[in-house]
Amino acid sequence: MKYLITGGAGFIGSNFVRHILKNHKDATVTNIDALTYAGNLGNLKDVEEDDRYTFIHGDICNQDMVDELVKKTDIIVHFAAESHVDRSVRDATAFVKTNVAGTLTLLDSAKKHGNKRFHHVSTDEVFGALKKDDSAFTEETPYDPRSPYSASKAASDHLVRAYFHTHNLPMTISNCSNNYGPFHFPEKLIPLAITNLLEGKKVPIYGKGDQVRDWLHVNDHCLAIDKIITNGTIGKTYLIGGDAQTTNNKLVRMILEIMNKDESFLETVQDRPGHDFRYAINHDKITKELGWVPETSLDKGLQDTVQWYSQNKQWWQEIKSGQYRKYYEQQYGEKK
Ligand code: NAD
Ligand code: TYD
Repeated sequence: MKYLITGGAGFIGSNFVRHILKNHKDATVTNIDALTYAGNLGNLKDVEEDDRYTFIHGDICNQDMVDELVKKTDIIVHFAAESHVDRSVRDATAFVKTNVAGTLTLLDSAKKHGNKRFHHVSTDEVFGALKKDDSAFTEETPYDPRSPYSASKAASDHLVRAYFHTHNLPMTISNCSNNYGPFHFPEKLIPLAITNLLEGKKVPIYGKGDQVRDWLHVNDHCLAIDKIITNGTIGKTYLIGGDAQTTNNKLVRMILEIMNKDESFLETVQDRPGHDFRYAINHDKITKELGWVPETSLDKGLQDTVQWYSQNKQWWQEIKSGQYRKYYEQQYGEKK
């Protein structure tokens, strides 16, 4: 099987590249990534010499380049996106370009080259925000995105569904909860908290900190996507969750405890505009149909993640200092 993975130099994509190379010995992987601020070839150092792996520096909005790659592929697994809500609040332009127009480019190419198999990686944020006692999201929950990020992901989901209904494109979609684990860019809550604490700095908590997220270990996510690709029903959506709903206050206290720090390391800061209160996932469908369940408890997953960040200081220190962009510039020249 020849995989084309988009956004494979980012957090989840790089873990998925590694998952496929490790678990499918007959697979080849081509990774197209534009190396935005979130893309880092340092995430893939251990596979770059693998004969079955090829990196292509490119933008998914570039139709000619995408056509060349899609032509030679069996399946497209689409991770590339602008992924940070706070950035989408500041400026949504890149979110619409990559998440909406970029997805359309890939879909058109998949259609043009004989309706290639397409798996689209999306988020639970497209379903909006839940109240404290609302039932968890299911595959039937109506779309109600509320941030520019989730609106752009919702638009991309709709396009993927439209290409199935209109052009019979053999697609599947997964919408998952908040991931965490190795190679998570330290602008998101968990890696920001861990790396700040390792630097002796405080952890910023937005507003009251009573918002609820469901936390999914990235390895569990990769396995779920693999199962959907292998045995999922074409045209269907699957929700993937970690069975780990936690308020931000509780989550950061779990991290403080693992790292032997006290509450003086917490700092309340201004809330995010339009901050979604709660996300939660009912993953019965993928469990019943494909036998997938999340295997990593939040306790164990956080301990492993703290250990990973403690043992890989150079990786995140180069990101926090901006040094990681120097490698990029040496290889590809300066970029805004
Ligand atoms: P990330 O921000 O870490 O990585 C995104 C990658 O896409 C980067 O390597 C970046 O360089 C690349 N990219 C961006 N624009 C591109 C373009 N125009 N062309 C080619 N490459 C481009 O993101 P992530 O956290 O790994 O998320 C991956 C996918 O999973 C996204 O689609 C995101 O919406 C979805 N998702 C993420 C989470 C989460 O908790 N991180 C949860 C649910 C869904
Ligand atoms: P984040 O990791 O940005 O993911 P998302 O917004 O996609 O859920 O944020 C997770 C939660 O943590 C969210 O409720 C916002 C909150 N948060 C903070 O309290 N402080 C921070 O510094 C960050 C980045 C997020």
